[in-house]
Amino acid sequence: MTSQTLQWGGRFRGAADPELLAFGSSLEDDLPLAAFDARCSQAHVCALAGGGIIDEQTADALRAALDAVVCEIGDGSFAAAARSGGAEDIHGAIDARVRELAPVAGARLHAGRSRNDQVATTLCLYAAARAQAGKNRCLAIAQRLLERARQELAAGTLLAGTTHGQPAQPISLAFWLAAAAEPFARAARAFATVAAEAMHSMPLGSAALAGSSLPLDRRAAANLLGFAEPSRNALDAIGTRDALLDCAHAWVRACASASRICAELVVWAGGPFGYVRIGDASSTGSSLMPQKRNPDIFELVRGGAHEVTAAYTGALTTLIGLPLSYHRDLQQCKRLAIGCIERAMSLLDAFARALDDVTFVAEKMNAAANDGYVVATDLAEALVASGLDARQAHSLVGARVCLAEEARRALDASDLQALGATLDNPAFSAPLDAAASVAAKRTEGSTSPVCVARALDALAEELAALEHLP
Ligand code: ARG
Repeated sequence: MTSQTLQWGGRFRGAADPELLAFGSSLEDDLPLAAFDARCSQAHVCALAGGGIIDEQTADALRAALDAVVCEIGDGSFAAAARSGGAEDIHGAIDARVRELAPVAGARLHAGRSRNDQVATTLCLYAAARAQAGKNRCLAIAQRLLERARQELAAGTLLAGTTHGQPAQPISLAFWLAAAAEPFARAARAFATVAAEAMHSMPLGSAALAGSSLPLDRRAAANLLGFAEPSRNALDAIGTRDALLDCAHAWVRACASASRICAELVVWAGGPFGYVRIGDASSTGSSLMPQKRNPDIFELVRGGAHEVTAAYTGALTTLIGLPLSYHRDLQQCKRLAIGCIERAMSLLDAFARALDDVTFVAEKMNAAANDGYVVATDLAEALVASGLDARQAHSLVGARVCLAEEARRALDASDLQALGATLDNPAFSAPLDAAASVAAKRTEGSTSPVCVARALDALAEELAALEHLP
């Protein structure tokens, strides 16, 4: 530890306990912030120069040193050097490196700045960038699911849709794929909002908590970084972690959506269903049982969604009951939220890759599409359309299901005949198989091919609009 690395000194006579310094370090957790902190420092140079606090020569020397640090971050050499430097966090490590590269100018960089406004600003930049990345990833996943839905719509693959895991009503695979795509379209929209909000109010220039007596040009810094405006209240700005938490939350939600699809695919890949085959690249074998093909990636993403949710919850609860202003607890919040976001990114990447390696086994799905009296609701709705009330219709069809079950047969023409006789309508008809059931759906958003085609067009339009959103 050098006096160069620590950002204080005069007040202290004794040396810090190295064990405690190590305990208090967030450097390792901060590494994903490095490039954003360097940008934040570039903006601070702009605020210092704009306010006439440093001259142009000093500003140029600082800019050059920061550019060099950005290169070191890019080529990976900065992280290794920072680790051996012993700084408390990435903010201190970058400051120390700037002072090494440009000793005279470097000593002026921290004028009018505290790590409090620096951390808060860096976290906003990080949150905005990771939200943009989330938006792009979710759009790509939704796009891919949409393409596959179009293919399956043309193929006409059907399955027995379930509720409570029980066969419920026939649906098309295209409809299922579109249902899988929708949450990612919503997540992309949420990420876009998070990114915009993160770049609204810039904490930089708030200093430790009260603002600065130096004439920092905050507007120039905000313009350089792309913030809408400087923050209105320094005390709030340095203590809030809302942008970071919103970003983490959006990632958690995307992972939760992915986990639900994973859960379904794990079941579908299993022996009794066999609805999907997961390719060799994304499957794992057993060390003992030669026949096994395990859907590990989907299980890991499903399990990982719990992990990121726990980290997000930890980050959020760190703030509960914390008084305004900066407290070191916020370092803990930062660590958990960054951990959540970085892990969520790798989960979603793995999910997208493995999802592309899934093949649907149409024969199995189509063969099982009529399982479990799935057209019973169609019969009841046909009775309602003939004038019966819903309770009567439900009960009459329920009785036919009982009879069919006892006779170990599907609902068939004899049931239509019996129901027609009750109505005194020998021409009574209703869908008796999955294809007819699906085709008969009429409501907007339903599983009928016409409605699914329309919904896919609307989804495609929305994805294109989201893609062009800044
Ligand atoms: N390592 C701290 C963090 O990451 C930096 C903020 C330091 N501010 C302070 N007043 N100690 O949150």
